[in-house]
Amino acid sequence: MKGLSIFALSYLVVSATAVKHELYKECKDSGFCLRNRYYAGKISELNTDAPYNIDPQSVAVLDRGIEGVILKDLPQGRQIPFQFELLLLKGDSIRFRVDEDRKNVKAGHGKVNVNRFDGTANAVFDDDPESKRLTLDLKVSKTKSGLLFNYGEKNSIRLELNYSPLKLTVSKDGEQVLVVNDKQFMNIEHYRAKEENADNINAELESDFDMFKDSFKDSKDDSLPLGPEAVALDATFVDFQHVYGIPEHADSFSLKSTVNTDAPYRLYNLDIFEYETDSRMAMYGQIPLLMGIKKDVSVAIFWMNSADTFVDIDKQASVNAHWMSENGLLDFIILTGDTPTEINTKFGLLTGNVQLPQKFALGYHQCRWNYLTEEDLLDVHSKMDENRIPYDTIWLDVEYTDKKKYFTWDESLFPHHIKMMEKLDETGRNLVVIVDPHLKTEYDVSDYVSKHNLAVNNVDAEPYKGHCWPGESIWIDSLNSKAQEYWTSLFQNSTKAFIGKQNNVYLWNDMNEPAIFNGPETSAPRDNLHYDNWEHRSVHNIYGKSFHELTYNALVERLRESTRQRPFVLTRAFFAGSQRTAAMWTGDNMAKWEYLKISIPMVLSLNAVNMPFSGADVGGFFGDPTTELLTRWYQTGIWYPFFRAHAHIDSRRREPYLFDEPYLSVMRDAIRLRYALLPTFYTLFRKSSLTGAPIWKPMAFEYPGDEKCLEVDDQFYLGDSGLLVKPVTEQGASSVDVFIPNDGQVYYDYTNGRFNEKALKVKSSGTFTKSVELKDIPVFVKGGSIFARQDRYRRSSKLMENDPYTIVVALDKNGAAEGSLYLDDGESFGYTEGEYADISFKATGGNRLVSTIKSGNGNYGKDHGDILIERIIIAGVENKVNSVIILADGKKWETQFVQNGSLFEIKLPNVDVASDWSIQLSSSVEHDEF
Ligand code: NOJ
Repeated sequence: MKGLSIFALSYLVVSATAVKHELYKECKDSGFCLRNRYYAGKISELNTDAPYNIDPQSVAVLDRGIEGVILKDLPQGRQIPFQFELLLLKGDSIRFRVDEDRKNVKAGHGKVNVNRFDGTANAVFDDDPESKRLTLDLKVSKTKSGLLFNYGEKNSIRLELNYSPLKLTVSKDGEQVLVVNDKQFMNIEHYRAKEENADNINAELESDFDMFKDSFKDSKDDSLPLGPEAVALDATFVDFQHVYGIPEHADSFSLKSTVNTDAPYRLYNLDIFEYETDSRMAMYGQIPLLMGIKKDVSVAIFWMNSADTFVDIDKQASVNAHWMSENGLLDFIILTGDTPTEINTKFGLLTGNVQLPQKFALGYHQCRWNYLTEEDLLDVHSKMDENRIPYDTIWLDVEYTDKKKYFTWDESLFPHHIKMMEKLDETGRNLVVIVDPHLKTEYDVSDYVSKHNLAVNNVDAEPYKGHCWPGESIWIDSLNSKAQEYWTSLFQNSTKAFIGKQNNVYLWNDMNEPAIFNGPETSAPRDNLHYDNWEHRSVHNIYGKSFHELTYNALVERLRESTRQRPFVLTRAFFAGSQRTAAMWTGDNMAKWEYLKISIPMVLSLNAVNMPFSGADVGGFFGDPTTELLTRWYQTGIWYPFFRAHAHIDSRRREPYLFDEPYLSVMRDAIRLRYALLPTFYTLFRKSSLTGAPIWKPMAFEYPGDEKCLEVDDQFYLGDSGLLVKPVTEQGASSVDVFIPNDGQVYYDYTNGRFNEKALKVKSSGTFTKSVELKDIPVFVKGGSIFARQDRYRRSSKLMENDPYTIVVALDKNGAAEGSLYLDDGESFGYTEGEYADISFKATGGNRLVSTIKSGNGNYGKDHGDILIERIIIAGVENKVNSVIILADGKKWETQFVQNGSLFEIKLPNVDVASDWSIQLSSSVEHDEF
């Protein structure tokens, strides 16, 4: 039980100190990391040949790819063979995979599966890994030193495999972009028994630190049954100055150099208590995709490994990355594209894209630990309405359960929970309840899980027991496919189920790193065993994902008969591929300004690696925000793709209606702006679900060729909507510095979601200072963009369904603009059968706007009648307009307008938003012909 009292207690009592470093391993405490850094240091220092080479005789070029053997030289002339394969994948990405034959590993390791874990690809890809492979019908040329081939669009990418030294060089359009194993840091610690260790080490290059034991104070019990098994590799991003990705870290968007520090970026899912900002420490989830961006070319490495991993970044004239993982295959994918967004699309072809959420999930989520009773919850519900603040979802944290036994209710606090859900449903509201992977021992759910071998086991193959919220607990082994059936039965769609037959109830999966209060690093012992006797060590980073997928699949079954068929699951732990089934949030931040600020690069990093449905706890989880901080956090939070306020159990109540004026109005206006822009958010999510494009588009993604854009991480574009947002994150700010890229575009001031009539255009590119008051949310619109809004206040997004639309047009210098609007029923899977309307808007010549349905049958499975456009606002109309003619539905008529300088408003055009129509602004008295 060591550690329980201190840790569980400190979770509840917010201390003034920050993260407890002593709880978590650094590189120097992790055998595999220290050894690989040591090895890299020796290779560089001695300038010696690395012991890994490809055996030229072994290489075979086959339809399925290139295969061969890498030989590792040991001191006494012995050689260890590793099988490699090089495959071409969908999207013209290259996979290089190295395995070790362990058939001859001797017995004596208990139950553990002795092979290198090969299941990470199954977890990551959205389909069978084999289906991702393209036939290698390319012309492969053999050279003296290796082989080479061209691939990709117009054969513009060239790959050279050099045998000795082992190197992979990728060039695009004749220029080198990536050299894998450039510095020869590749290392694979082959299997050896403890007593044979001395003969298996190259003493000149290797350290034997912690090969068979773990000296870190909380990990001393790790039996390390298979000894050292690390894999490592380096790659140089040639002539790149910036690399991005590998979240989750509370750090800048452009990654920092780590080589001369103690702290490489760490990727190991951890419940990091009171995390600090400006840190490379591991957090709750990981996506090991590292992307280099520069003008005309982007290149990325996806490190397909689910074990504890560190990445050293060395920034010189080029950036070199050194990956080090505790065990598993040496397996990685190289993605190459003209732009970073193309990398997202290619990564999406392999790992899938974010699923289109129900529209409600993009609304405002009201959460705290905890709404204490059903009266309390319904009181918040009514107060939001009394104060005319829209919200869509209210949340219940762990206290709703009977003694933290998931799938039960504390009946004394929530005696009428089904009625409570029905009450929420009356105004289209939803409830989210928490269910974690730890199961209190000795109740029917955990008994069933133990009895049917569905629990994570300890090294002796007995259900592992640890401590979490309920006290002594076991953990569901969601990596066991047999667990699904039982989990689904717990969520059954019946009056017997803990959430009854309600279809407005969704799920929150927390503590799924997994968090274990008395475990090493507050997580699971690495020698625990999962299905098929894989060590926890090998699957640690995919466990959380497997758990939220279990929940997602259970909800799919439960909602099968409902119109609200798309599940919603929020997860804290995640891995590549999580985007397909869950939203995530950035865990337990603090009610301090620096956490508001760091949330922006954190959400940008997640968007950059195909995990766009993300956000931070608005207000900060630990502590009490000042009213100013809370207000600024709402003004930032309305832009998070996932927008939820949450608070620790000991923090003061902070629902927005509790505050005096002007704060209440300012927070209300911010939330309403989010609701007004829901059509735009939903359209962007649709696009992301098809292409992997980010919802928060980093400046570097919009202008990869602009040096300054590669660095900016305190402002962002909202997808391709043209909205450029600069949140205020400084206490007492009376101004903000806004960076306008040098793209030759007009930028319009759209502060608070309204064009500024007095100062419509922001003058020039570069940084300018904008004055702000408390009420101000600095937003700009890039000329050339069109987006849609729904402006009427409703209590929830569901009640906005039939509301009229406003179309906002920001003309560029040539009077042109483009944009889109995606519509469907907002909740079912009908859109996958064509029940949607994808509408495209195009403005030309400063006087003409055309709307066209591009795809979809426009029938959303509901009889909603026409949904009208009530207003069109156009910025940048330079000529004096005399009349506005509408052509729609085969008819033509003139309509009212107001012109105020170059700001133009067409009132009540009254056309059906889901139809083809056009509008002509005429400057002459005679009407122009369409
Ligand atoms: C930890 C989560 O990060 C936090 O959001 C939640 O309130 C607590 N667990 C209690 O469930």
